[in-house]
Amino acid sequence: MSNGLRRITSGISGLDEMIEGGIPFPSVVLVAGSAGTGKTTLAMKFLIDGAKKGEQGLFFTTLSEPTQWMLRYASQFEFIKKEYFGTEIRYEDMGLMLQRDGYEELLDFIDDKIAEIMPQRIVIDPITVVGAFFETDYRLFLFELTNLLKNWQAVTVLTGEINPGEIYPAQISYAVDAVILLSMMEEEGYRRKYLEVLKMRGTDHISGRQPLVITREEGVIVLKSRF
Ligand SMILES: Nc1ncnc2c1ncn2[C@@H]1O[C@H](COP(=O)(O)OP(=O)(O)OP(=O)(O)O)[C@@H](O)[C@H]1O
Ligand SMILES: [Mg+2]
Repeated sequence: MSNGLRRITSGISGLDEMIEGGIPFPSVVLVAGSAGTGKTTLAMKFLIDGAKKGEQGLFFTTLSEPTQWMLRYASQFEFIKKEYFGTEIRYEDMGLMLQRDGYEELLDFIDDKIAEIMPQRIVIDPITVVGAFFETDYRLFLFELTNLLKNWQAVTVLTGEINPGEIYPAQISYAVDAVILLSMMEEEGYRRKYLEVLKMRGTDHISGRQPLVITREEGVIVLKSRF
């Protein structure tokens, strides 16, 4: 099944089976979706999967959310073990920097932190906030960021906030190796969640929307009923 590319598991039940066992290593993955579709939970699950295997994780938030906030968020979910924070998972808040500095300083900060921590798994959540601060330089920032990340031996998950119904954050998607779209749909009075792999370079992935559920115990799970 595998075509010889090195891969790491996402840790998301159901997703790894859709993508030949895991995400190509190294690579940059965009997880796009509207509010509340499960982007942060998916990204956290990915880091916890690595932490369990002794891999180093680095989580950048762009939202001015201190570590305390993250720990409170984490306490909603049983799969997130707090003892990983500060050790296997390092947390960096870039919110203040975004308000204060230019995009070049931000890129330097990201690069320096990666050099210091040497993570195998990186998350930037959500990347789209950067666009609000560096409107005209955002494309350039994304281009330089993805180039920078390609120099490191890591899989990076960038989360992207998109409006409901919007298909594809085209500004980012051309620069990344993979795009996973999370969505929500109203069906028979319920809002159901879905996950779709739109692209993943070097991977014969399953296409089409797959049902996704979020649980306290496991976080994000892709239901395998359809493939
Ligand atoms: N314990 C839980 N059990 C089931 N579902 C939950 C639980 N906790 C959160 N959820 C679901 O997860 C959603 C939030 O997921 P998450 O924060 O990962 O989404 P997000 O895409 O990052 O959202 P945002 O755009 O606000 O950052 C909630 O809207 C809710 O539907
Ligand atoms: Mg989020």
